[in-house]
Amino acid sequence: MQIPIEAYNKEYKDRFLKYYDEFKWLYHELYSGRTDMFESLCDEMFRWYKERGTELKEMDRDRERHPDWYKGNQMLGMMMYVDAFAGDLKGVRKKLDYIEECNVNYLHLMPLLDSPEGRSDGGYAVADFRKVKPELGTMEDLEELAGECHKRGISICLDFVMNHTSEDHEWAKRARQGDPEYKSRYYFYDNYDIPAQFERTMPEVFPTTAPGNFSWLPDMEQFIMTTFYPYQWDLNYWNPVVLNEMIYNMLNLVNKGIDIIRIDAVPYIWKQLGTNCRNLPQVHNIVRIMRIITEIVCPGVLLLGEVVMAPDKVVPYFGSVEKPECHMLYNVTTMATTWHSVATKDAMLLKQQMNVVNTLPKDYVFLNYLRCHDDIGWGLDYLWLMQFGIGEVSHKRYLNNFLTGQYPGSFARGELYNSDPASGDARLCGTTASLSGIEKAAYERDDEALKRAVSLDLMLHAYMLVQSGIPVVYSGDEIGQENDYTYHKDPKKWDDSRYLHRGKFLWEKEALRKQKGTLQQKIFDGLKRLEDIRKEKQLFCGDADVWTVDTWDKSILGIVRANKEEKLVALFNFSEFDKTAWINEDDGIYTDLITGSRMEAKGVNIPAYGVYWLYKRRKEPKEA
Ligand code: GLC
Repeated sequence: MQIPIEAYNKEYKDRFLKYYDEFKWLYHELYSGRTDMFESLCDEMFRWYKERGTELKEMDRDRERHPDWYKGNQMLGMMMYVDAFAGDLKGVRKKLDYIEECNVNYLHLMPLLDSPEGRSDGGYAVADFRKVKPELGTMEDLEELAGECHKRGISICLDFVMNHTSEDHEWAKRARQGDPEYKSRYYFYDNYDIPAQFERTMPEVFPTTAPGNFSWLPDMEQFIMTTFYPYQWDLNYWNPVVLNEMIYNMLNLVNKGIDIIRIDAVPYIWKQLGTNCRNLPQVHNIVRIMRIITEIVCPGVLLLGEVVMAPDKVVPYFGSVEKPECHMLYNVTTMATTWHSVATKDAMLLKQQMNVVNTLPKDYVFLNYLRCHDDIGWGLDYLWLMQFGIGEVSHKRYLNNFLTGQYPGSFARGELYNSDPASGDARLCGTTASLSGIEKAAYERDDEALKRAVSLDLMLHAYMLVQSGIPVVYSGDEIGQENDYTYHKDPKKWDDSRYLHRGKFLWEKEALRKQKGTLQQKIFDGLKRLEDIRKEKQLFCGDADVWTVDTWDKSILGIVRANKEEKLVALFNFSEFDKTAWINEDDGIYTDLITGSRMEAKGVNIPAYGVYWLYKRRKEPKEA
């Protein structure tokens, strides 16, 4: 190493030495014999640490002292596109009061780094990791926004798109000119022999919008690996330069004040012939390396893994207690199962899914959400559904039919995504409001249906908020924003239906939330009330015990949260009929935290799409 360990200051040296052996071992496991690359990585890390601002270092120390800082019931997230929400970064800064009013202290700004117009995959094709998209502002604007957020106690999350670069990235351009140094950062092939072998085991991500995993480059007369869109070139992490350089790109972002790094599409980063190129052991090795690096350079920073996979593939990204990987992961199966319950009016699978989540260690922090910028993929527990004779393909067809409003009596207004005629598979797009029936009812001016739809929308949010972890609201959902169909006519967007739920935030609608009786007021105030209760009551913290209860009605989900002092029985009616939850918690009178009504938790009548948060204090244990 050019910088000897003796040159490190005490703080850095202590952190470094704590992880050194494991770090070195992991790195050499991937890149055996590349001590030179390991040493230059170590040198650079120290440089990034030295460059890190004093206030950020203070924040690191504070968070090191309180490592559970993100685990309480106070955290509430919102995710948004900067341009859709407020035009640019300066605009977001001006709207921080509104963001705070939404109870948000975790702000996920969707990809905002430089990426080519019309070939950006919503910003996930990055052309320059050190530059903000000019139309959104500059790196200085980002830094200022982060600084202002920190003053207000808001953490910022940013995507780190490490699986690929845009074909317009400097490396890609140089590779295109034939420079071998840069070509070795991607996967190039002279003919289709190897790609054909890969294709045998590698599933497709976008079977309709971008079929296959390789693209032909006519100017180079070569194939290149492109798992996502053809303009997103997969990075070759077999080359240690790629890992090192990408780590520096990440450290650059955290030094601008980013608190949470969302590792985009992380399961895909390592490719190996003969495998499905997902979740390979090397991926976990790299994520652990990233965790170690953040613990050494910027321990206040959190890693959020974007792992949209089956539950058994998701959980390993937390790593182990001794060797943690990500701090947080998306609760993707619960999200998809929630929409399954909406479409089937049956909460049994959701109960089963809650039981699975409840068996996991309480240290695991999940991000709970109803909608995000992506489609809903139907990754459900089909093995469990099979006992009721429900098959995967036909069930997906039913869910998609219902949620796109094709099914008789359906209230939902979604659109299909990547519908693959070959496999019969399709995913789904739409906003919470449109999928809950608000769009249809408002259009048809059907007041009764609108009332039901608003109840469903709020009930779903209440369900999201009752789960352990960090709830994340998708910007616009707080005012019941509907689908945006303008993308149909936009030549740069029309073929990607995810733009259906990526519309502009409608400030003229937001203004209506202050008028009593408007749809926006009902959703905004209803949601805020739930969030306020969550913030106030200790039993929403991740350390509470959580279990499901039988309600003897398959459309009613019953969840109990309890700690030593308090107990909550939460009931959610997924059907359009008034129902009775046949529970029998024989322990006195509860208060519904939402309405203030008092009742026993026994044979509870619950209106269509209704929700109860029945709460009571438990008796203090008697002194021995
Ligand atoms: C992630 C993003 C998605 C994007 C993909 C490729 O899954 O959420 O929007 O298309 O990565 O970067």
